[in-house]
This record gives sequence, structure tokens and C-alpha cells, in this order.
Amino acid sequence: MIILGIETSCDETAAAVVRDGKEILSSVIASQVSIHSPYGGVVPELASRQHLEYIIPVIESALEKAGVSCEQLDVLGVTQGPGLVGALLVGLSAAKAMAYALGKPLIAVNHLEGHIQAAFISGGVPESPFICLVVSGGHTALYRVDRDGGSRLLGATRDDAAGEAFDKIAKLLDIGYPGGIAIDKLASGANPEAIHFPRSRFDKESLEFSFSGLKTAAANFIRVHGPPASDSARSGAGSYTLGDFAASFQEAIVDVLVEKSVKAAQQCGLSDIAAVGGVAANSRLRTRLAQEAASGNFRLYLPPVEFCTDNAVMIASAAYRIWMRSGPQHGMLELDAYSR
Ligand code: KG4
Ligand code: ZN
Repeated sequence: MIILGIETSCDETAAAVVRDGKEILSSVIASQVSIHSPYGGVVPELASRQHLEYIIPVIESALEKAGVSCEQLDVLGVTQGPGLVGALLVGLSAAKAMAYALGKPLIAVNHLEGHIQAAFISGGVPESPFICLVVSGGHTALYRVDRDGGSRLLGATRDDAAGEAFDKIAKLLDIGYPGGIAIDKLASGANPEAIHFPRSRFDKESLEFSFSGLKTAAANFIRVHGPPASDSARSGAGSYTLGDFAASFQEAIVDVLVEKSVKAAQQCGLSDIAAVGGVAANSRLRTRLAQEAASGNFRLYLPPVEFCTDNAVMIASAAYRIWMRSGPQHGMLELDAYSR
């Protein structure tokens, strides 16, 4: 079964062709980073306009790279939400138009279900049920994912998502966008214990997260101590470097993500953990999870970095799973996008 996946929930215009849910025939992503960079975050109106420009060429390119014609597609899969409504509507309208014109079935995919599906593109396949840490710019949550792909929320953030915290502090430091990637790079080789930032854990058994306190503490630190010195210009006592700040801030986020993922596995009596979403591309998070897994308490599943951040392979793959589980969906041409 050949599925075309389309994803436009935020600032990536993506299309992919996937056979039988796992064989990737093509994956095309048009990034809007350079457009949103000057603003230090995604500007929704600009994102929608850019999706409009990119969507047809991106779909055409995905089909061409896969060597597949429109007529050879069996099903179309598209992200319906959550995300920026104006952005989602571009992908959704394109998918509906194609489905109507070609007379092909259309499957609506929840963006988070797409991210979770990326766990199956990790080389090995987690034994279900498994624990899935979904950690992105918009979400930070732990799910128990069952054999049929259904998932149960175990705990989520009470305020900011981890990616949001990365992006907001990176904006404050003016080090580039997306902030997570910038902080990841600066942190490499720096001292994660240089500055102690708070970790919100709630009570011992809680699987909820909170990153707004950390964000405030980091902002206050900059206010009190002044902006960080560049790494090459470490001067007298009291100064701190950008690298050490980035590494310490990153460590505070990673500590909690690792701790709670392991706790979730223990509480559910499960021995497979996957981490997905943009922040799962973080090199320190990947290393720390791998170190924990090396203790032998659980097996770890991490999608390749390119399938952690937004992409359409995960949407096509999730559409396949939904199709196999429930068959065709009805009323698809009346489908609306949803933000939350
Ligand atoms: O999954 P994603 O592409 O979009 C959402 O669904 O939100 O995730 C984007 C988020 C951004 O906050 C970005 O800063 C973060 O993922 N991110 C990273 C890294 N790469 C992307 N965060 C930490 N380290 C990274 N290497
Ligand atoms: Zn995403």
C-alpha cells in the first residue's frame, strides 16, 4: 500500500511517500527557518503564506523522488491538528483536493500520533506496550502506547513544553532559531554543572512536567549576572560563558526528561522506552537515555534525528496504521483543522 503523507502543522512544509507504513520511498521537507529566524520564533501568518508557496512543489518533488504517480497512490494521509490552524489548513486543503480529484481515500492524522509513530522508524521496533516520551516545541508528555497504537496519557507539562523553554531562552540570548539546536551546539564540550538551575519534579511519583520555573530562573540569572561572555573571552571571577550556560540549562531539562521516562517505565512495569519529537534530536538527551538504557533496565528506541523533528514520513506511516486498524474514514472532505 503506497501512502502520500502531508504535514504542515508548524513551520515545515513536508511530504513523503511510504510503502506499507515503513518503506520510505521519499521524504521532502521545505524548512522555513530563515523566514522566522529574524523573529526568534514562528510567525503564524508568515508560516501559512510560505506553506502556500511550498506545498505543491513539495508534493510534486516527493512523488517524483519516489518514482510514483498520483494514480499509483492508494491512500493520502494528512496532519489535521494540533498546530497552527492557518498552517494546517494549507496541507489539509491540498490533501482534500487531491483525494477528491483522484478519488482516493484520505486519512486524518493527529500530529502527536505521527510523532509517536516515528518510534517505529528507529531500526528496531519497540515491543508494545511501551513508554513514549513525546517532547517537542508544543508538547512534553509521557504516554503508554499499546499494541494497537492506542495511547494513554500518563503525564504532561503543566505549562511550557521543553522545546518552548529552549526556544525562549535562546531568543533571550539571541543565539539563533530553532533555539534547541542552537543550545545543543553551544553546550557541546561545555560544563553542565557550571550553573545550578532548578528542576521541577512535583512529588516523587509524579509524571507531570513544568519548565516555566526553569525559564524564569534562567532569565533572572542573565539579569543578575549580565549577558554571558563568549567562550573565547572568559574573564575574571563572576563571569560565565555562553557554553556553560547552555550546557547547564540543557542539563536541567534533560535530567527531568530522563528521570520521568524511567519512572514511567517502572510504574507501568514496562521495559521499552521511546523518545520522539523535535527535542528527542537533542544530543545530550540521546546520550543520557542511552547511558540509562545501558544499565539494562530498559530498551531504548530513538528515531533518527531527521524523523524527530516535523516530517511527513511519520504522518504517512501513522496513516497506514490507522488504515489497517479502522479502514476508510468518512466525511473527509468536510474535515476541519484543529489547533489543540
Ligand atoms: O517536533 P518539532 O519539529 O515541532 C513541534 O511539533 O513542536 O519540534 C520543534 C522543537 C523546537 O522547540 C526546537 O527548538 C526543538 O524541537 N529542537 C531541539 C533540537 N532540535 C530541535 N531541542 C533540543 N535539541 C535539539 N537538537
Ligand atoms: Zn511536531
